[in-house]
Amino acid sequence: MRVLVIGSGGREHALCRSLKLDPQVSELHCAPGNAGIAEVASLHDIVPTDPLQVAELAEKLGADLVVVGPEAPLVAGVADAVRAAGIPCFGPGREAAMIEGSKAFAKDIMNAAGVPTARSYTCATPEEARRALEEFGGPYVVKDDGLAAGKGVVVTGDLEQALDHARACERVVIEEFLDGPEVSLFALCDGATAVALQPAQDFKRAYDGDEGPNTGGMGAYTPLPWAPEGLSEQVMREVVHPTVDELARRGLPYNGVLYVGLALTSKGPKVIEFNARFGDPETQVVLDRLETPLAGVLMACATGTLGEQPPLAYREGSAVAVVVAAENYPADPVKGDEITGLEPTEHAYVLHAGTAVKDGRTVSAGGRVLAVVGTGPDQESARNNAYELVGRVRLRGSHHRTDIAR
Ligand code: AMP
Ligand code: GLY
Repeated sequence: MRVLVIGSGGREHALCRSLKLDPQVSELHCAPGNAGIAEVASLHDIVPTDPLQVAELAEKLGADLVVVGPEAPLVAGVADAVRAAGIPCFGPGREAAMIEGSKAFAKDIMNAAGVPTARSYTCATPEEARRALEEFGGPYVVKDDGLAAGKGVVVTGDLEQALDHARACERVVIEEFLDGPEVSLFALCDGATAVALQPAQDFKRAYDGDEGPNTGGMGAYTPLPWAPEGLSEQVMREVVHPTVDELARRGLPYNGVLYVGLALTSKGPKVIEFNARFGDPETQVVLDRLETPLAGVLMACATGTLGEQPPLAYREGSAVAVVVAAENYPADPVKGDEITGLEPTEHAYVLHAGTAVKDGRTVSAGGRVLAVVGTGPDQESARNNAYELVGRVRLRGSHHRTDIAR
């Protein structure tokens, strides 16, 4: 099978690593990729959000399957263009991807499907925003309606700060604050059938103790020994199946991965957000534990045959990912510095995100530079193995959280 992966982050490195390990995969390509992905796939320098460029590349390579990683190409209609060229594609089309591309659309789908989520208002003016904020009271939750790379959400006890964010955005969703631990659950979907992957937990804030600004995610681990029994089944029943059915009813069959971000509240799991793609860095740990060869599963999603697949199998033990971020991430990350100490150890390895090769050296090229994945028979050993390798990575000014999976 010839597979083309679209994207250039840590999630795409994790996808490529797992695809490379699948004996069914004869050729692996990635566009545009990064310095780490170049070690397992052939890279192609195209604009990943240009549907025509992606479809043309897939045709030229004779790809049997295209896997679209990030949200921007999905929302731009890349999956539609690939399918229109007659090539199976893992990833929702432009309209279905609006489940991530518009918070208001996601809320509309959830309300129509009876999915448990925070009560909310979509507000187009500062006056509407103020009314909604006063009704719900603090802590205030203000979400930019459009795509914002994980930085469009402000959660604050300060009404003025909440209003400032609402004023800075064109349209916002304001919602009640959900209290409780967060879980990321990925559901693989083939348009009709959906299957849950093992849940993971992500650490969204930049600094230890969940302090500092929201980021794309600073670390993750799986499995969740503390998760209530039957959580995945409950979320599939109450959230994923009704959502996928509602999308299909609207003529938008969902094909790809539906990322369900949940708060486990005292009144049960409630949806914080949907994404139309795998989470980053949760994918790095979930795919590490997935034993079932990945290409066949993604191909089954792309061709509507997920229901014929055997149940997914996982490796025993735990995986922990720690993100190493550039100086000044998430505000204005410093780029172009050399990174060393990337060699794997017995129980840990590096997945690249914002990296590039310059004059034969690996340099930083993004805010989240890389994730170290550690594994072990239990969470503590996996965490220790991850942090041991984090300690060897050298990047001037970089920072990471020291409390992932603690
Ligand atoms: P989102 O981009 O929607 O995932 O929001 C980013 C982060 O903001 C989430 O992971 C939560 O930590 C926090 N957040 C978003 N919505 C809520 C909410 N309704 N209640 C509490 N925290 C929230
Ligand atoms: N880790 C959160 C996300 O991928 O949106």
